[in-house]
Amino acid sequence: MVMHKDERASDPLTAGAGGKRDHQQSAAVGGVSHAAERKPTAGASSNDADSQLKSTADSGSSNDAQHQLTSGSGNTREHQKKPVRILAIETSCDETSVAIVEDGRRMLANVVSSQVDIHEKYGGVVPEIASRKHVETITVMLEEALQQADTSLDEISAVAVTQGPGLVGSLLVGVVAAKTLALALDVPLIGTHHIAGHIYANELVQPLEYPLVALVVSGGHTELIHMPARGEFRIIGQTRDDAVGEAYDKVARALGLPYPGGPHIDRLAQMTDDPLELPRAWLEQDSYDFSFSGLKSAVLNVLNQTKMRGEVIPPARVARGFQESVCDVLAEKAMRAVQEFGARQLVLAGGVAANRGLRTVLAERCAQAGMQLVVPPIELCTDNAAMIGAAAYLKWERQSFTPLDMKAKPLFTLEEWMNE
Ligand SMILES: Nc1ncnc2c1ncn2[C@@H]1O[C@H](COP(=O)(O)OP(=O)(O)OP(=O)(O)O)[C@@H](O)[C@H]1O
Ligand SMILES: [Mg+2]
Repeated sequence: MVMHKDERASDPLTAGAGGKRDHQQSAAVGGVSHAAERKPTAGASSNDADSQLKSTADSGSSNDAQHQLTSGSGNTREHQKKPVRILAIETSCDETSVAIVEDGRRMLANVVSSQVDIHEKYGGVVPEIASRKHVETITVMLEEALQQADTSLDEISAVAVTQGPGLVGSLLVGVVAAKTLALALDVPLIGTHHIAGHIYANELVQPLEYPLVALVVSGGHTELIHMPARGEFRIIGQTRDDAVGEAYDKVARALGLPYPGGPHIDRLAQMTDDPLELPRAWLEQDSYDFSFSGLKSAVLNVLNQTKMRGEVIPPARVARGFQESVCDVLAEKAMRAVQEFGARQLVLAGGVAANRGLRTVLAERCAQAGMQLVVPPIELCTDNAAMIGAAAYLKWERQSFTPLDMKAKPLFTLEEWMNE
């Protein structure tokens, strides 16, 4: 069975579309500087692995490592003098990725294996297939990352992994791999939040300055987050129905475009200057929330009505109209938030951050307002492990590590993560 992002939380075995990873370098847009949720049902084997790891952890060695790192011993000082190399693992959806990130900023390696070709024929991610592919691919990615970084395992300071949100079966593969490595290497484990990862991907290319407002636009999330300081997240607005990436993928499917549809709509939208008139969902006057299901239904209605009349509407006009409606609302609310919170930067994050229409409109609006816009390079927009290594560094700075009996958290919140 194939399902979509909004259905993840209600059905543990299925999920929505991920995104195809485009490995290109960042390109400046408009002279602006560019910075390069789902449900628990652990399978029997993973639970076994969990309990084995828990019992070994309880018996001592990794707890000792954590103790040494937090107690100000000689070992701690040694760790702090050396560059901190975090080996990060991301398997929350349909990308298997391993990265090695130094001091939270320098990407020594970031290898990503996308399953998009496999899920494309189903029109969305099939969770059972996704987790099986992660199992097959994870060790290959690990070896490749170490090779690319020219790093040996004994140079690794900590192991980070996406703990959630995500598909439970997919998360579990990364979590078990990370626990195993942390235990074997006797280094700390850092469970990391996926959305913090999307935001801190930007720091791999440009320092973030606070207070800032982050606009997170991905396959499962659409959020405006006020960050008064490093590692402090206050969600001020979120989608009330579909995530923006999910809306892109559904509209693309209605237009007969392949999965994932976001990049295809983006491409089509550039092909016309004659957008179809579509509504904008502003919601209440002061609200920072979003809603995309009405817009999606409006597109489906237009397509059905023109079909019933025997007419054809150029898909590019639909794509352009849809994209303009989405981008207008995202940009307007983001600009209002940066003003209200006195932000020094507007930071874009998530798979839909790759969207050219959104990048262009935000660049224009920020240039007018004298606001610094930070956007990730294309290859760091969609899921990758380097962003997890960057976010995990927040926890390293606090010497706040995760016990080896850590569980994957399909519905993990940012607040829960930072307060752990
Ligand atoms: N150029 C683009 N324009 C619009 N959407 C895009 C573009 N490129 C990718 N996307 C969309 O980005 C989404 C994938 O992003 P991402 O990998 O961040 O999602 P996810 O990890 O599955 O969800 P989440 O991060 O919320 O858990 C897909 O919906 C895809 O269609
Ligand atoms: Mg993501």
